[in-house]
Amino acid sequence: MTDNNNRHLTLGVCDYPEHVPQQDWQKHAEAQKALGLSYVRLAEFAWSKIEPTQGKYDWLWLDQAIEVYSSQGLKLVLGTPTATPPAWLIEKYPEVLPVDENGQVKKFGSRRHYDHASEIYRQLCKDFVEKMAKRYANHPAVVGWQVDNELGHEGTTVSYGGASEQRFPNWLKDKYHTLEKLNDAWGNAFWSQNYSDWSQIKAPNLTAVRQANPSHSLDYQRFCSDMIDEFQQLQIDLLREICPSHFITHNFVIFSAESDLYKLAKNLDFVAWDSYPIGMLEFFATWESEETKTQYARTGHPDLVSLNHDIYRGLKNGKGFWVMEQQCGHANWAQYNPLPASGALGLWTAQAWAHGADSVVYFRFRASHMAQEIMHSGLLHQSGKADRGYAEVEAFEPEKFATQKTKNRVAIVHSYDSLWSYNHQPHNQNLSYWHQFALFYNVARSLGIDVDIVHPLDIKNSHYEVVICPALTLINPVEAEVILQESDNKSFIFGPRTDFRDQYAKAAIDGQFTLLSDLVNAKPINFDSLRPTLKQKVVSCSASEEYEAELWCESYETENANVRFKYSGGPLDGQAAVVESNNAVTIGALSKSLTRSLISEVCLSKGIDCDLLPEGVRKTTRGDSTLWVNFNDEQIEWKGKVIGGVNFLLVEN
Ligand code: GAL
Repeated sequence: MTDNNNRHLTLGVCDYPEHVPQQDWQKHAEAQKALGLSYVRLAEFAWSKIEPTQGKYDWLWLDQAIEVYSSQGLKLVLGTPTATPPAWLIEKYPEVLPVDENGQVKKFGSRRHYDHASEIYRQLCKDFVEKMAKRYANHPAVVGWQVDNELGHEGTTVSYGGASEQRFPNWLKDKYHTLEKLNDAWGNAFWSQNYSDWSQIKAPNLTAVRQANPSHSLDYQRFCSDMIDEFQQLQIDLLREICPSHFITHNFVIFSAESDLYKLAKNLDFVAWDSYPIGMLEFFATWESEETKTQYARTGHPDLVSLNHDIYRGLKNGKGFWVMEQQCGHANWAQYNPLPASGALGLWTAQAWAHGADSVVYFRFRASHMAQEIMHSGLLHQSGKADRGYAEVEAFEPEKFATQKTKNRVAIVHSYDSLWSYNHQPHNQNLSYWHQFALFYNVARSLGIDVDIVHPLDIKNSHYEVVICPALTLINPVEAEVILQESDNKSFIFGPRTDFRDQYAKAAIDGQFTLLSDLVNAKPINFDSLRPTLKQKVVSCSASEEYEAELWCESYETENANVRFKYSGGPLDGQAAVVESNNAVTIGALSKSLTRSLISEVCLSKGIDCDLLPEGVRKTTRGDSTLWVNFNDEQIEWKGKVIGGVNFLLVEN
């Protein structure tokens, strides 16, 4: 694998020669070169253009396009176009299509219309990718591959029928071996759900009359995630064999929640993700208030963008990542798609670097004049004239941003098992895993703390001094063991619902904190799911501090732990809200200000600086430099630093 070893940030762009007249290719490539771009990603949706009917290939246009970019010294990342099986394929093999939650077979006419478990589709992809890889393996301009495009995005991880549903029982057999074990693990004694034959087990959709058993749903999610992993691995294996000198990556999506990205990242050389800060705030951050959305409508929220960067950096801890698609103008897919503020593109590019990006690739070069994304912008208008982002890319100086590594002292633990089981039974329509996770992340970042977001097992023997587990509701015994061991020399902060479920998503028979009981020293009494208009007062035991909790409060009894905060008023009156024991602080009440007070106390005790930053201002250290970003319209002066509105300031340390 070569080519992710640049000493400074590099830039690139996604381009679609198949969407524009061939006479424009040369001037596009020249402009890309003049903009200082290093990489072009292409062909990730081009299957029907290359193979218009089964077995008839037209590589000529792609060969010619590659020559044009190559003549400008641009390096190419090719997408395997398996996210878009052509019409002939679907007509011939309709069983490849996935099934939605309502049991409807999805139709051809958009993208991602395939079931990852389909053997026929896997074989067809292998045949195609093998041909493509062989064709470009030795082309000097081709440096890497993106497998497929945004695996699982737009609700496509799970198919509720077809090949997935057929393969599920075998996956379960491998896991549980006997139906007795499965029935026990899932708690099928409840509502007479016991199975007497593997063939009776179906996908967990359309279950009468309520939601499916959460243990069943969790295993289906894990299974579908494994199917994606297998699907991706087939392509990785082929590309490794045929193109050993090329890198292999994949472009994951914002707040990806459906597959276990730690598994998916494992065999990639580095990961990439697609950053759309404005759409992310409008579409994904359902918990943010209208006020916040208005404030950050043209920049995206500083923490939500960086949270995603930190997740992707943490998938292959210690390695850099790429932003494979960076929003460079307005998008088309959110409820509202405002124009980015002037300066936002430079700000996002610099921020991506600060959080570990080694390359930022803009989406897309020229706006499409055809089909679903007509309303999406690019660096060029549909007409070919420069759009608003163009000048910002032109002005950006990537060589000022060295791609060094940083050792952060604070880790935040993230787990897909916890995410899935939390979201299967959120017990409050305004709560989700990401909501709770983002609250803790936001608190840490607003205090100026640099964090790594890591898998629970990644804390083992690590250098971290403080480990925050915002929503670790499901941990397995191996993960619990690691936490217990590491608590000898690290401070832990746990959020509500920690260690609530066993590895099958049942509540542990001994109740919450079964696995972590020795560390936490608390037992739950009650949890209280609050409607948005109900607030709960939380007071310190000395009564000198008072906070307001919302949406979720859980109370504990304890023999040995130090009760730091109690509830005041309401059904939990007088019961513990925050307990401290050994090296662990457990916070049962959801409150930003309470969490801020506790995180800063723990970090300060370790000598980690905490300094409450102005709203919209963040600082991040990478290597020898610190980047200050200001997401506000107005210039901010802060401790001798002047950061322009919607701008950044790079300071050598
Ligand atoms: C991404 C996708 C691109 C394009 C873009 C539009 O999710 O990978 O192909 O659709 O969104 O914002």
